[in-house]
Amino acid sequence: MNLPHEIQSLLSAFSKAQDLAGDVDHLLAAFGREITREHVPRVTRLAEKLALQFGVDVQAARTAALLHDIGGVFRYDQMVPLCEALGLPVEPEERRVPMLLHAKLSVVLAREWQGITSPEVLQAIRYHTTLHGQSTALDQVVFLADKLEWDQGGQPPYFAALSAALNESLETGTRWMLSWMALPEAKLLIPHPDLREAWRSYGIAPAHGMQ
Ligand SMILES: [Fe+2]
Ligand SMILES: [Fe+2]
Repeated sequence: MNLPHEIQSLLSAFSKAQDLAGDVDHLLAAFGREITREHVPRVTRLAEKLALQFGVDVQAARTAALLHDIGGVFRYDQMVPLCEALGLPVEPEERRVPMLLHAKLSVVLAREWQGITSPEVLQAIRYHTTLHGQSTALDQVVFLADKLEWDQGGQPPYFAALSAALNESLETGTRWMLSWMALPEAKLLIPHPDLREAWRSYGIAPAHGMQ
């Protein structure tokens, strides 16, 4: 793959050096991503706990959680051109809200920077924001850990209800979160096509205007 120069220069400036958690922390610190830097270890701890609870590969959950937001080191205005240069499809919704592309860029960095090849781990990174139509338990663990340990400060308004749903099962927790995201109070910037697929797969009808 021909890598754009922004990614090539990142790869030469940040060699794979320490343990994965240390590498990620170092990268996020260098780019001044302090909120993400604080968010990622929380998501990782919870993803490990949920993985253990639901019989999911803990190491895979840890790897995906550590890497899920590293694509956020790029500026929003770089994201569409970068994905185009990488030959990645860019949906109309992603052109309108380029921040949605951070997950695709996280996958590229996970592969090119950290040498992650597991399709399961890369898929969990790719779909951590929206989930998708055929989510695995690993996808759901990373998605829900990211939602419970969000990066918007404090606890999310749905924390208690989602935790209660998760006490029943991973499936119940996933359905609960996707249903909440279909409500007007979720204030989604835009419903991503992958999220619409996830809603369809659970038979969830989104609020008016979000179909
Ligand atoms: Fe994210
Ligand atoms: Fe995140």
